[in-house]
Amino acid sequence: MSAEKHDMPRGNVGIHDFAVISNEVVAPGINRLEISSHVSWGLQPGQFMNFEVPGDKTHILRIPLSFSSSDLVNSHVVIYYAVVGEGTERLSKMQPGDVSTVVGPCGNGWRLPEKGCKRALLVAGGIGFPPVAAAAGMLARAHIGFDVAIGVRNITGLVQSQIEELRKFERIDTDIVVATDDGSIGIHGFASHAAEQLLEKHTYDCVYACGPQVMLASIARLSEDHGLPCQVSMESMMGCGFGACGACNIPLKAGGYASCCMDGPVFDAEEVAW
Ligand SMILES: Cc1cc2nc3c(=O)[nH]c(=O)nc-3n(C[C@H](O)[C@H](O)[C@H](O)COP(=O)(O)OP(=O)(O)OC[C@H]3O[C@@H](n4cnc5c(N)ncnc54)[C@H](O)[C@@H]3O)c2cc1C
Ligand code: FES
Repeated sequence: MSAEKHDMPRGNVGIHDFAVISNEVVAPGINRLEISSHVSWGLQPGQFMNFEVPGDKTHILRIPLSFSSSDLVNSHVVIYYAVVGEGTERLSKMQPGDVSTVVGPCGNGWRLPEKGCKRALLVAGGIGFPPVAAAAGMLARAHIGFDVAIGVRNITGLVQSQIEELRKFERIDTDIVVATDDGSIGIHGFASHAAEQLLEKHTYDCVYACGPQVMLASIARLSEDHGLPCQVSMESMMGCGFGACGACNIPLKAGGYASCCMDGPVFDAEEVAW
């Protein structure tokens, strides 16, 4: 991935203090975290932040997290995270008023579609939802219509407050299709099945997707079959978070690698060697 083609302005990047405003369980194993921090200044949709979570001095790696919305007036940022391991478990214990630091804004986020784009298809799988909500905000501000395909494991994974986050940006014609692995709500299937249903119903000019790698690969194929440009936000495992360790390398179709933390996390799907 060429840096010239994709690099976003890196104004305000650095280590910022943050304070927890709220940190609530919104579904089993999923929290909504709202912070107050100057990291919000210059944070672009699709970029991420690297959190230092206090409580264990042996845990030196930060935790990369995306955001779903940011509010420049109050310097607030809203994050949704799954509690999956030791770091996110400690994060879930942070109380309103607790403070720590965050590095950001990190990486390259979503780009606006080509001029003339009337409607975009957004696809979110599981906890890939936050950057997709941020993409919805970006498109709404640019007066571009969108529909959303959501894939979650079961009804308990469907986080109502995330849907509400999305509804802030939706237009009267926004179509949201939910798919669950077990059919407990919406259609029985994956996010890609929800996307296929929307593709049959509407005409799109581009696709934005975030979710597990296997879902992104299938959305990349689906977009190619429909001749649609597709941007994907990749969530690879990270080490340093600033391009030094190579832990987050993404293989490219043209050969070689790009770093998820510096070149990504958003890539053109056609550039990735799936
Ligand atoms: C750019 C980026 C943005 C992200 N945004 C979000 C977000 O908005 N919300 C959210 O919930 N998570 C997000 N993640 C994933 C999040 O960073 C990890 O879940 C977190 O670092 C796990 O830390 P831990 O110490 O709790 O777990 P660990 O103890 O480090 O790991 C617990 C388990 O989670 C797996 N894991 C760790 N990191 C990842 C990863 N990046 N992808 C897949 N599996 C992983 C490990 O293999 C292990 O099985 C993002 C990751 C990246 C790279
Ligand atoms: S995390 Fe070290 S290079 Fe990306």
